[in-house]
Parts: sequence; structure tokens; C-alpha cells
Amino acid sequence: MSGAAKPLRLGVLLSGRGSNFQAIARSIGEGRLTGVEIAVAVSNVEGAAGLAAAQEMGLPTVLHVSKGRPRAEHDEAMIATLRAHAVDLVCLAGYMRLLSPGFIAAFRNRIVNIHPSLLPAFPGLDAQTQAFEYGVKVAGCTVHFVDEHLDHGAIILQRTVPVLDTDDAHALAERILVEEHKAYSEALARVASGEYEIRGRRYVKRAQ
Ligand code: GAR
Repeated sequence: MSGAAKPLRLGVLLSGRGSNFQAIARSIGEGRLTGVEIAVAVSNVEGAAGLAAAQEMGLPTVLHVSKGRPRAEHDEAMIATLRAHAVDLVCLAGYMRLLSPGFIAAFRNRIVNIHPSLLPAFPGLDAQTQAFEYGVKVAGCTVHFVDEHLDHGAIILQRTVPVLDTDDAHALAERILVEEHKAYSEALARVASGEYEIRGRRYVKRAQ
């Protein structure tokens, strides 16, 4: 990927509330995130609030219900939609379904995800509750490239959140979410710049 003048076209995948998607859209709308545009928002869950929000913003939206459908077949339909919208970079924003190997191969090194923990700690579901119950003193979120393994690819950036004695899992998750909303736009700006390389597992800024 290069830092060409043409904006990077994002395909946002979501399953629910869509607050990370909305934060990205706001960053773009307010001119804080440049070099990217949202080409399409896709949901795998009927009635996802995030998809309704995308519609209200006048963005192209597509629903591919995944429930009861074989993963590979569902993902083929998703790939076709993303290609039809000329998507350069797939952004998982609360997309709560594992991607098939075929999907990952179709967009190799061109899928990013946000996860509400400091990976590699607490992959999987309910990461904030996992972190809270474990008793960590510092929690946070991670934006990373997606590979074949769950919550595993090269890390683009992380933001930390202190865990307070007065916290419960919900309060902690709320404070992590505030950082997620900043982290995702910041990570997309880095990717859009094209000024990076992936060395092994390490995402590094390219020397000027
Ligand atoms: C976010 O906290 C995101 O990090 C998490 O789901 C939430 C979606 O919220 N994703 C994962 O746990 C993926 N493993 P949103 O729909 O409001 O963006």
C-alpha cells in the first residue's frame, strides 16, 4: 500500500452497536482523519444499530445475514460485496464472527480489527470482563492486522486505560471504549499513510 493521493476505500464490517464505525465516520467527516473514505458498511446481523446509523449518514450499506449459513459461503458473498465497492482495506468494527481462511486470503494484510484488550492478553469474547476479573491494573485496546488466528496479527497501536479500585467490568469497558474510538482513527491514519512495513510480527514506521 502506498501513500498515494487517492483515498483508501474502507469496507467496515460490524455486527451491532457500531460505535467504532461511527467514531471513524466522525473523524473523517470532521477532517481529523484524511486519506480514507468509507466505501460501504456491511453487517452480518439483521437490525444492527451500526448499519442503521450508516444508512442515516447516506453511506452504502449491505446486509449479509450469517446466521445458519456456512461460513465459507457467507464470506464469499461478503468478498463479492467488498470487491463491488472497490474496497482497499477491510475494517472490523465489532464484527463478531470469525473470518474464513478464504476471506483472509482475499484481503491479506488488508484487514484491520479493534479488540478491547492489550493483546495478546484476553483474546476472544468479553475481553474487558476477562481483564477485570483477572485483576489487571492496566487494561486497554489494540488495533491490529488480521491473520488466520484469533486476535493475533501484527499490532498497529495500543492505548492503555488504568483499572480503578472503584471499577466494575462495565465502567472499565466504557473507559476502554473511549480509547477505542481514538485508537481506530489513529491506526487508520497510519495505515493510510503507507509509511510502514511489517517485519515478522512487528509493525514499524518506515524510516523517512
Ligand atoms: C468494541 O468494544 C470492540 O472492541 C469489540 O466489540 C465492541 C464493538 O462495539 N470487538 C471485539 O471484541 C472483537 N473481538 P461497537 O459496535 O460499538 O464498535
